[in-house]
Amino acid sequence: MRYKTHTCGELNLAHVGHTVTLAGWVHRRRDHGGVIFIDLRDRFGITQIVINPAYTTEDTFRLGESLRNEYVIQVVGQVCKRPEGMENPKLATGEIEVIVSKLEVLNPSKTPPFVLNDDSIEQDESVRLRYRYLDLRRERMARNLLIRHRFVKFIRDYLDARGFLEVETPILFKSTPEGAREYLVPSRVHPGCFYALPQSPQQLKQLLMVAGVERYFQIARCFRDEDQRADRQPEFTQLDLEMSFVDRDDVLEVVEGLLTEFTERFADLHGKRLMFKPFLRLSFEEVMERFGRDKPDLRYGMELFDVSEAMRGTSFVPFQAQHVKGLVATGCAHFTRKQTDELTEFAKKNGARGLIVLWHDEDGYRNSGAGAKLSDAEKQAIMTISGSKPGDLVLLAADDDRMALNEALGELRHELGLRLKLGDPDAMAFLWVLDFPMFSYDKAEQRWVANHHLFTAPQDEDLPLLETDPGRVKGKQYDLVCNGYEVAGGSIRIHRRDVQERVMRLLGLSLEEAYKKFGHMLEAFEYGAPPHGGIAPGVDRLTMLYAGAPNLREVIAFPKNQQAADTMLGIPSSVSEKQLRELHIKLDLES
Ligand code: AMO
Repeated sequence: MRYKTHTCGELNLAHVGHTVTLAGWVHRRRDHGGVIFIDLRDRFGITQIVINPAYTTEDTFRLGESLRNEYVIQVVGQVCKRPEGMENPKLATGEIEVIVSKLEVLNPSKTPPFVLNDDSIEQDESVRLRYRYLDLRRERMARNLLIRHRFVKFIRDYLDARGFLEVETPILFKSTPEGAREYLVPSRVHPGCFYALPQSPQQLKQLLMVAGVERYFQIARCFRDEDQRADRQPEFTQLDLEMSFVDRDDVLEVVEGLLTEFTERFADLHGKRLMFKPFLRLSFEEVMERFGRDKPDLRYGMELFDVSEAMRGTSFVPFQAQHVKGLVATGCAHFTRKQTDELTEFAKKNGARGLIVLWHDEDGYRNSGAGAKLSDAEKQAIMTISGSKPGDLVLLAADDDRMALNEALGELRHELGLRLKLGDPDAMAFLWVLDFPMFSYDKAEQRWVANHHLFTAPQDEDLPLLETDPGRVKGKQYDLVCNGYEVAGGSIRIHRRDVQERVMRLLGLSLEEAYKKFGHMLEAFEYGAPPHGGIAPGVDRLTMLYAGAPNLREVIAFPKNQQAADTMLGIPSSVSEKQLRELHIKLDLES
């Protein structure tokens, strides 16, 4: 006998009268006046099963009484229309029920350590992760897995139709420390030597361009040993993509086309809609000036305003700086001193020298604190420029370092956006951030560092600045941002060896070092490397946004927790002396 003739999600009025076999888990059991109702669940849905002594044997009824949640059962029965008024419009199978004639328990279950049949109850995440195989049975998690599957399947079809080739690249890669810390894998065969897990397939995808693949993609697993955050996992998945004979807009168009179509075609599944079509495009400089964060949430406004000129010559000491900027928290004049003190602390933690607060009442800025110290003309100027209205709260900061000021206010804007829930949960606000500065100066290490990676091409007109004014060199780099997250990063690459060497020199890599680490790249660039560029959207981050989930762990089947551990598997774990010896590793180093 087949285990099931139908899934638990497919029976409807058209099946009335059919005898069917179903199998799945007991989702819920209710006893009503001598009749037992079971919600039977499998991955495809839920079907109501009725065990009525009038239609089955005494033994079957007794067995029905013994059922508990999460038992695995099989039933044979007849599909019937539910009695008038008993339909459940929320269920796909809500117009029918199956009247059981035979019932078999395929496997009983211990009582689960947390409630599986009610997603409205928040469960302790550590327990969920410890019993992830149970957690994944929950409706919300099953939906997240489905969204991810649809997304990846869509990506493959979309890119295949556009001539892209999916190529797998190795997981055992080479250690090339740059960016995040790497995971190392000791070699048994080569004592004292290591592989590294790839932080991304960056170098190999560029070599595939030299190899003539022209349009490559991969659903690529990447590994980075960095501190965990809600939007970071030590192993994560990128849609890694690279194209030859393209300029920036060719790459952007592929990703924008893909995400636009996925958002629109699968709206029924994820419930999201595009806020900007086409996606917004802004330069890094403009983004920082207006929103103070290179990954702003554009589902709401709350732009930074600039009153630097209006504050020139002020007698208000905190504003005697080169730059004075602020933002308006609409409708927040009811904030108490305690709340604004908290915001001040937050701003300071993010680099602000302080925060000046103005409460906008019916007759202007309240005459206390800064409101009492600013002149009427100054207050009027702030009101005009900021556009604040009665009921609003105006937050200002001043600094000689404009970037630091923008960043502090940008984080404040983001924090307020979260606290006030300003972002429409159904909107996807995609924004391309363009024209990034290529390098920043690391004061601690006293050297230039690449803002993206060292294969990113400088903008052509900035090439001469490489040796004279690196801080002003802009790169052919682009990020895609959505709802406050960076969801993709990429660039047009350097494809000529002389330019690559100049960049490496600037970053303080001697030619000898450069050859040791990147000889394979430099050598390849001498054999006719085509102009090329690419990008890598984060599959986990995008799925998280489509699923409306608060962190990446919700959209990864078996994620690591915030300590980079998996408590279900008990990893990381120690290994035997014998294994260590084989790998030529001793563990007595003091750290
Ligand atoms: P980048 O380092 O910007 O670029 O990464 C690209 C995208 O990968 C995702 N991402 C992560 N997701 C989850 N956890 C992490 N720890 C994590 N780190 C990154 C983000 C990010 O936007 N090789 C280049 C791409 C290129 O130039 O083509 C790269 O890896 O969504």
